[in-house]
Amino acid sequence: MSASYDVRGPVAVITLNNPPVNGLGYDTRCGIADGITKAEADPSIEAIVITGAGKAFSGGADIREFGSPKAVAEPNLLSLIRMEDDCRKVIVAAVHSVCMGGGLELALGAHYRVAAPGANVALPEVKIGLIPGAGGTQRLPRVLGVETALNMIVSGEPVKSEMLAALPGQKLFDKIIDGDLIEGAVAFAREKAAEHASSGKPLPRVRDLPVKHPNPDAYFQFARNTVKAMAKNFPAPAKCVDAVEAALKRKFDDGMVYEREVFLGLMWTPECRALRHAFLAERAASKIPDVPEGTPQRTIAQVAVIGAGTMGGGITMNFLNAGIPVTMLEMKQEALDRGVATIRKNYEAQVKKGKLKADKYEQRMALLKTTLSYDDVKNADLVIEAVFEEMGVKEKVFRTLDEVMKPGAILASNTSTLDVNKIASFTKRPQDVVGLHFFSPANVMKLLEVVRGEKTAKDVLATVMAVAKKIRKTAVVSGVCDGFIGNRMIEQYSRQAGFLLEEGCTPAQVDKAIEKFGFAMGPFRMGDLAGNDIGWAIRKRRYQEKPGMRYSKTADLLCEMGRYGQKTGAGWYDYQAGKRDAIPSKVVVEMIEKHRADLGITPRKISDDEIVHRLVYALVNEGAKIVEEGIASKASDLDIVYLTGYGFPLWRGGPMCYADTQGLFNVVQAMNRFARNPLDDADFWEPAPLLARLAAEGKTFS
Ligand code: NAI
Repeated sequence: MSASYDVRGPVAVITLNNPPVNGLGYDTRCGIADGITKAEADPSIEAIVITGAGKAFSGGADIREFGSPKAVAEPNLLSLIRMEDDCRKVIVAAVHSVCMGGGLELALGAHYRVAAPGANVALPEVKIGLIPGAGGTQRLPRVLGVETALNMIVSGEPVKSEMLAALPGQKLFDKIIDGDLIEGAVAFAREKAAEHASSGKPLPRVRDLPVKHPNPDAYFQFARNTVKAMAKNFPAPAKCVDAVEAALKRKFDDGMVYEREVFLGLMWTPECRALRHAFLAERAASKIPDVPEGTPQRTIAQVAVIGAGTMGGGITMNFLNAGIPVTMLEMKQEALDRGVATIRKNYEAQVKKGKLKADKYEQRMALLKTTLSYDDVKNADLVIEAVFEEMGVKEKVFRTLDEVMKPGAILASNTSTLDVNKIASFTKRPQDVVGLHFFSPANVMKLLEVVRGEKTAKDVLATVMAVAKKIRKTAVVSGVCDGFIGNRMIEQYSRQAGFLLEEGCTPAQVDKAIEKFGFAMGPFRMGDLAGNDIGWAIRKRRYQEKPGMRYSKTADLLCEMGRYGQKTGAGWYDYQAGKRDAIPSKVVVEMIEKHRADLGITPRKISDDEIVHRLVYALVNEGAKIVEEGIASKASDLDIVYLTGYGFPLWRGGPMCYADTQGLFNVVQAMNRFARNPLDDADFWEPAPLLARLAAEGKTFS
């Protein structure tokens, strides 16, 4: 039973005990129901306190039960709350640390609520594409007022208990308890039990409280407009507004029915499924199949970064932000000065925008040291190399690190294309070497590919996964291969984008189509931002390594014109000095037209649908190969890479999830169609064996 029952004098204390966050799983729900029943039946009990053990009151539904029959098995949360409503003894919820989703709904079913200060209170269902489904939309407006409640429900963001308790007229918390919460809650429960016994007054229920607003129609119209503008691809936020309006305009029980209907209606929308998938996939990404939880970790108290260029500076900021001291090493003082100046400039911009307090900025800078000598970094627990992308340079750095670093230090490389096994082989401690592939700008981008070498030790992996969490990155483990997960997939997407130009598209048409699908940026705008010369260098290497692999020559012709992108003021698009707006370029269109004429291609009109599916299925097919080769341990890891690092639309759940939603059979059919296009590449569209197998068996990637 994952809820315990104790008796403190005349008060029964039911303690949810389902680590880590006391999720309301089946056993826990049974425990609560049994506790209430037992307390009601025991004449020596006057009141009940419900609380949570450990680090939470309750984080809500138990995500481990999602989609299983246990999630909905009786007693479900609605039934528990009904038991609270019907209970003839005082129930006090004693809230602390985390009180979210179903946890808050359970607390709202109690007659009274007390809280420790600092508890995070939220109804975060909207973040997985839902609305609260156990009365949250009907009860929260009754205790906090319509506007505060709706803000919380639409944003899903937590608010501290003491802030909520300080709101005028609020009825969410009856008391904030500074000392021992359980002692305070038990004393409060006894007091209330005595009061009700002597006054004979009925026990207060949130459902009986009135909901009011001085100008509801105007307010809900305003709320709807705001939500529509902010969340155009997500249906749930607008439904939150409808449900809260129902709390105001309908009787409580009718409002509950409405909430249920909306909740169930959202449950199977593609957006909700995608968000749920992303939520679970992110948690799954942090787990490595053969590195069990509890694998010992190394202590990371001091970090060194080699190279203070674009990436070195951004990487350093992540650690400074997390309060971890960093020493940056360079070859020349000027490079260090430039690196530090960039870090300062970034922080100062944040201070200017009010996103960072001036004293915090100084605290962070105080954690930064710079040096030209390896002697000053030898005691670091983790060293991250971010020098030029040349094997010779990496070799020199890693041989030196091997000589100077203390035993047990983790030696990481931020390489984006080089072989991490080879880099590890330059040392006598390949077990301590790992790739940490940050994305640019490294202080902003969430994604971190952790590249696992053949010999990388398990405790090194466990440690860097924990470090990633500390510096607030979403880490995904990739095996060693060219491009790792993200860039290996994007290369195929870029190849298709090139073929589309040859067949009749303009860069702007391709970008617009995929941006309409939801990508943050199309392939050509992205090329201009990252620098088209990077892809050029990769292709030059490919022409040697894989002469049979077809690419459109348009990207090479563009680079030969010196159009590397924003940094040269011109790329696939034209740019005005100091501005980032991509202006369609006549010169580029002419270059493409000439190239087509040289190839003897008559351009054709290509639909947005074809553009989107050729680009996305290029990702999917390469993704399937990555999973099959074991470069990624699961398909959902690829979705996380694309959601957090490549601007894939969240409401589509990532490329592999999108393919599942389309049906893998249909994906293969479309690929076969593309293969029949003589201007495309039939080999390219040969379905990966895993994809072909899953499609034939009617299965999905996840
Ligand atoms: P960068 O050219 O901006 O910076 C490299 C820095 O390393 C320079 O400041 C240089 O002075 C310094 N350096 C070179 N050799 C050194 C040595 N032996 N000892 C100490 N410092 C040395 O290059 P960037 O863009 O920061 O790239 C660094 C690494 O990060 C490369 O491996 C690159 O592939 C990788 N990377 C780059 C991304 C990007 O978008 N720029 C994204 C992800 C990874």
